[in-house]
Amino acid sequence: MKKKLLSLLLCGAMLTATMFGCGKTDGSNDAGTAGGGETAKSGDVQVGIVLPTKDEPRWLQDQKQFDKILGDQGFTSKVLFSQGKSETEKSNVEALIEDGVDVLIICAQDAAAAGAAVQEAKDAGITVICYDRLITGTDAVDYYVTFDSVAVGKAQGQYLIDNKPEGSGIPLYLYAGAATDNNAFLFFEGAWEVLQPYVADGTFVIANSDEANKLADKAELTKDEQAKIIGQVTTDWDFNVAKSKAEAHLTANDASLKGDVVILAPNDGTARSIADTFAADADVKSYVITGQDAEVASVNYIANGKQSMTVFKNTSTLAADSCAMAAAILNNTTPETVTTYNNGKKDVPAKQTDITVVTQDNYKEVLIDSGYYTEDEIK
Ligand code: BGC
Repeated sequence: MKKKLLSLLLCGAMLTATMFGCGKTDGSNDAGTAGGGETAKSGDVQVGIVLPTKDEPRWLQDQKQFDKILGDQGFTSKVLFSQGKSETEKSNVEALIEDGVDVLIICAQDAAAAGAAVQEAKDAGITVICYDRLITGTDAVDYYVTFDSVAVGKAQGQYLIDNKPEGSGIPLYLYAGAATDNNAFLFFEGAWEVLQPYVADGTFVIANSDEANKLADKAELTKDEQAKIIGQVTTDWDFNVAKSKAEAHLTANDASLKGDVVILAPNDGTARSIADTFAADADVKSYVITGQDAEVASVNYIANGKQSMTVFKNTSTLAADSCAMAAAILNNTTPETVTTYNNGKKDVPAKQTDITVVTQDNYKEVLIDSGYYTEDEIK
């Protein structure tokens, strides 16, 4: 496409000027970043970014990093949010195609539904990078930049094992992410791998999923089996859904499935609402609960003993990796990848980033001393 040529020429001209070798010549070429569907100022946009929603702090962390890194490197870029809707996501992609982007970095709302949007981008000659969430069932994706999501689930499960109450027959409540998000399966796979032996030997008793109980003796689940469990305990990544499911589970169970419990919560937003619900039940004496994302509100919950742990996924690394990938593509070189993820249609070359478990003991060191958050943000 014509704009690709223009960008490559620009990149070539600026090669020595910036770290990635692709810089803007002056402000007039800077489209800036436009959140929530606003229009960019003018001119060519080299890198378009589509994120799932502004309503979850996780994705605002990513936006902040993109703004910083792409701005520092002199890329012209635009960030758009899909606000939880695949239709908005598709029109965002179409708007970015109109803007002439060369690289699309997209975190899909729905792994399968996003296939049509990225196909349009591909047809327009755009290189597509899946960001954090893999788009499935299409060969219209080129690269994947992600955290190690199976490791996230393993870390959550292991935390419950390491911090469980004494004895056996401990009630285990399972919750999962949205079934439309491939990551929800990866997180669940990792958690199940470590938790299942403790379910099989009676240390834990699954308290809220008969589908999981049916599979209690199975170490490795097929995707269909995972889907059956996730179908029962999904939060849809929505704290209201998480709250009403937790309430329903506690209403259905008698005191024998309460007392000292452990809870696999898939991320911070859902963890906070599940934790509040369990805390409000008089028959729940104590709970250990996982999380993910190191959202400010959850770090505060951890500091105050209301959430047990979170998994810190350093969005500055993820955004930097995808920007480096974008730079390589704009410079017509092959981006660095370390592994592949099969999306049902192809093995997608991927770059993967490690995760860090955060608890009351290390949140200051990991999140504040590192400068990721300021001391004022965590009270
Ligand atoms: C992300 C999590 C996030 C969740 C809900 C997942 O795909 O990996 O970090 O909490 O979506 O937005």
